[in-house]
Amino acid sequence: MSNIIVPPRWRIPESQVTSESAFRNRRAFLHEIGLAGAGLLAVTQMGCGKEVDGPKPAATAVAAGSTTGKYPAPRNPAFSGKGLVLTEASVTAEYNNFYEFSTSKDRVHKLVDKFTVEPWTIRIDGLCEKPMTVDVRELVDQFTLEERVYRFRCVEAWAMIVPWTGFPLAKLLAAVQPKSEAKFVRFTTANRPDQMPGIARLREYPWPYTEGLRIDEALNDLVLVATGIYGKPLPKQNGAPLRLVVPWKYGYKSIKSVVRIELVSKQPSTLWETLAPDEYPFESNVDPKVPHPRWSQASERLVDSGDRVATLPYNGYGEFVARLYGKG
Ligand code: MTE
Repeated sequence: MSNIIVPPRWRIPESQVTSESAFRNRRAFLHEIGLAGAGLLAVTQMGCGKEVDGPKPAATAVAAGSTTGKYPAPRNPAFSGKGLVLTEASVTAEYNNFYEFSTSKDRVHKLVDKFTVEPWTIRIDGLCEKPMTVDVRELVDQFTLEERVYRFRCVEAWAMIVPWTGFPLAKLLAAVQPKSEAKFVRFTTANRPDQMPGIARLREYPWPYTEGLRIDEALNDLVLVATGIYGKPLPKQNGAPLRLVVPWKYGYKSIKSVVRIELVSKQPSTLWETLAPDEYPFESNVDPKVPHPRWSQASERLVDSGDRVATLPYNGYGEFVARLYGKG
């Protein structure tokens, strides 16, 4: 995203741009995710501030180390990646956008050592019946993980083909039971200047990194809560321990290292939209016909091969999402 024009200090060379330019109740939730009676989820219900009942020691024992045992997860045949060539894992691990660490894609992975991703607490709250605060390991342990091969398209006109591991966000949202007033979902990344050296260097940025989706977008089956990549848990530079993947939107909507998911009534402000609304609007669906103000979006460069290929509307996922926008 290196291409914000706003105050000069934010400007990064255009050369970086590719040329051409719920718990209904706890038991119901466990049912929903196939673990009724297992008694494994140790969450704190927000609002009443009381721990949910259940055999906590067992939860701890099961959670410890168990998440890693879930990899590799079986690939979902509906997203098998047929006809796509996976980007090399080493490329995906060393070519990153994660401004909390660096604006240089090839430096992010070298700067993540101090970033602690365990333990990690995530809050899911706002306009929902059953808000929760939960340890990510315990949360992830409750879901069946699957692998999906998705195209990933950055607004900067580069692209990758990535095998993500995770579970649909819709399942998590169903668990907290959104209220009817919830029209949007707001996501927030950890904000730890002592561990994320890029934050202090970009003082003008409205940290923490935030993103958002309309509720109907968030409930679309394509949106993944990703916990892994290439059959292993996510590396820190790719957004450990948990990130979003929204494959029909530009990559900045796929927020990393999430600490809070909040159901809200109004369209939330996002970091990039706050910085440059004309360049990074809230919706940000991949659309080859709508150029970025400073470059074309008609094609994209595959980062490993360097091949230039035509960009597809909705990044090729129109059959799943065009109807959300009154099309298709
Ligand atoms: N999330 C946070 N918290 N900070 C970021 O800088 N960059 C976004 C997105 N999520 C970003 C983020 C952008 S612009 C892209 S293209 C993708 O992460 C890159 O994901 P990757 O490094 O795993 O390929």
